Amino acid sequence: MITINEHYKKLQASYLFSDIARRVATYQQNHPDQRIIKLGIGDVTKPLPPACIQAFHQAVEEMGKEETFRGYGPEQGYPFLREAIAAQDFQARGADIAADEIFISDGAKCDTGNIQEIFGTDIVIAIPDPVYPVYLDTNVMAGRTGVYRDGRYDGIVYLESRKDNQFIPDLPQTPVDLIYLCFPNNPTGSTISREALQVWVDYARQNKALILFDAAYEAFIRDPALPKSIYELPGAREVAIEFRSFSKSGGFTGTRCAYTVVPKDCRAFDHQGNEQPVHPLWNRRHSTKFNGVSYPVQRAAAALYTDEGKKQAATLVDYYMGNAALIRSEITALGYDCVGGDHSPYIWIDSRTDSWQFFDRLLEQAGVVCTPGSGFGRCGAGYIRLSAFNSRENVEQALQRIRESLS
Ligand code: MLT
Repeated sequence: MITINEHYKKLQASYLFSDIARRVATYQQNHPDQRIIKLGIGDVTKPLPPACIQAFHQAVEEMGKEETFRGYGPEQGYPFLREAIAAQDFQARGADIAADEIFISDGAKCDTGNIQEIFGTDIVIAIPDPVYPVYLDTNVMAGRTGVYRDGRYDGIVYLESRKDNQFIPDLPQTPVDLIYLCFPNNPTGSTISREALQVWVDYARQNKALILFDAAYEAFIRDPALPKSIYELPGAREVAIEFRSFSKSGGFTGTRCAYTVVPKDCRAFDHQGNEQPVHPLWNRRHSTKFNGVSYPVQRAAAALYTDEGKKQAATLVDYYMGNAALIRSEITALGYDCVGGDHSPYIWIDSRTDSWQFFDRLLEQAGVVCTPGSGFGRCGAGYIRLSAFNSRENVEQALQRIRESLS
C-alpha cells in the first residue's frame, strides 16, 4: 500500500498566497465589474530592463545557431554570471566571496525551501514570527516539527518580531541549530543594523549554529550604513548562507533567476561531532536535483551587472520605492501605525482589527488586495501587509479608494 508523507497532514490547508489568490478569484467572479488592484503578493509589474531584453535576444539567437548552441550548462551556473556576482555584489563591498561559492538557481523561494535538506532532521530550527511561509512549511514537510496548535508548530523556536522590539527578534532563550533571518524583512519591511546582525553572527559562532540569511530585498536598502550582505560582517563566512534574487531587483519574477552563497568556510557537524563543510553538500544536492538555469536567462541576469543594466535596474527599484513612500505617507495620514517602505517594498500596517477582517474590508469596500498579517504567523495577527509592486497609477488609485473606505 502506497503511503503518504504524514508530515504533509500537519500543514495548513494551502500556501498563503494561493489561498489569497483563490479568495480574490471568487470575489472577482461574484463582482465582475469591480476593477481589483493587487497590492498583495510582491509581484513586479514593470517590464524587464532593456539591457536584459537585449542580452536575452542575443542569447536566443546563439541557441539557434549550430556554432553557438549550448546544451546542458554547469549546474552551478555559468562563470560569466558567477564572476560578475562575486566581484560586484560582494568583493566590491569588502565581502570575501569567490565565484565558486555562488550557486545560480531559479529562485530564492526554491533555495530557501530546499536548503534544509542538507541538515539533520533532529536539529532545532529558529524561525521568525511573522515569517515568509516557505521557511516554516518546508521544515514541516521534512518532519522537523510537531503538530500545529494555536497558531504554532510544536518543536520550532519562534523568534518574535513585534512593535516593542522594532521588529528585530531577540536571541533565542533556548539553544538552536539553524536560524532563519530575512533583512530587509518580508513581511515587516524592517531592517537590521550592522551591530544587531553581528550579535547573530557571534551567537552562531559561539553556539555552532548556522544562519540562513535571506537578502532577497537588499536592493531596496537606501541607507549606506545598513548591511546589504551578511558577509560584510566579520566571522559570517563560517556561519552563514545567503540567498539573493533578481526577482524584485531586476523584475525577474516571471523570468526566474536567483543565487545562493555557500562559503567554503561554512560548516555543520556530523553525528560524531566532526566538522563538515557545507559547500560540498549543497553542491551535491544542487547538481543531483537541478540542471541549471537556462543560458538566455543567465545572460539576461548578467546584463544587470553592466553599466546600462545597473542604471536601468536602479530606476526600477526607485520607481517601486516611490510607490512605497506614497503608501506609507497615506497610511500614516489615515492614522494607522506602520513600518517598512523606507528600505523595503513592503509596508506593515497595524490594522487594529483581525487581519482577515481587514483584508475582506479592503477587498469589498476598496477593491484592493493586501496580505493578511496573520498568514505570516501569530505575531502578524492584527497586521496587514501592502506591497509597493504595482504601477504608480494603480497605487494612487488604490490609496484613494482606501482613504474613502477607511475615513
Ligand atoms: C511575497 O509577496 O512575499 C513574495 O512575493 C513571495 C515570494 O517572493 O515568493
